[in-house]
Amino acid sequence: MNYKDLIKKIDKPKMPRHIAIIMDGNGRWAKLHKTRRINGHKKGVEAVRRTVETAVEVGLEYLTIYAFSTENWARSKAEVDYLLKLIINSLIKEINELIKNNVNIRFIGSKEKLAESYNKKVIKTCKKSWNNTGLHLNVAMNYGGRQELIDAFNEIMFDMKSGKLKKSEIDEDIINSYLYTANMPDSDLVIRTSGEERLSNFLIWQSAYSEFWFTETLWPDFSREEFIQAILDFQDRKRRFGAR
Ligand code: FPP
Repeated sequence: MNYKDLIKKIDKPKMPRHIAIIMDGNGRWAKLHKTRRINGHKKGVEAVRRTVETAVEVGLEYLTIYAFSTENWARSKAEVDYLLKLIINSLIKEINELIKNNVNIRFIGSKEKLAESYNKKVIKTCKKSWNNTGLHLNVAMNYGGRQELIDAFNEIMFDMKSGKLKKSEIDEDIINSYLYTANMPDSDLVIRTSGEERLSNFLIWQSAYSEFWFTETLWPDFSREEFIQAILDFQDRKRRFGAR
């Protein structure tokens, strides 16, 4: 079915509010097409574009994409350098189009290890979109779920020492407010491409009650149709949040 027809099947009141995507399989796509790994990543950017456009079209509120994990530093220097450049260059290239589409974009993750000039460029570019009220697009960059919790614990300790926060106040809402995703709803649906079925340190706190959707498709081939299909499948699931 063509994706315009698939979109019509979406039950608007049952839309997931927050979808998170583990974009996996760029390397295998490149191998399959007998080309260099970097070409897989380049092709992956086209899939990001399609996915963001589709998210805007269906009126999604939050989309979080796993662009670079804290573990990705272990790749070859050439690949790391390429990925870092590709991500910032894609942001700069697309920012006007994103703004036109009312997208509010931010990078979530640790600032450490990234050059200060890199972080500055990211903020300067993203800031232009922060009055937008449409899709909230989070690019998880130098992101690790455990690192996010370490950062949160440190800030909580700091605020407790200064008296801003009391031990008795700590609950789920308070912890949420110290995460990179503060003020955002938890991820309702986590999608992972390329046949792998694990979380890989992505949104470990926020996905406690998420539904998971896996596909064998390699990220560069991820289509609009498949994205909509994931949403439709989500709408068929019965979420109980631990209750019967
Ligand atoms: C996983 O494939 C993909 C990544 C580690 C990078 C994802 C990044 C992009 C798609 C670049 C664009 C991002 C933005 C925000 C513009 P892999 O290399 O792990 O593939 P493999 O498991 O097949 O080797």
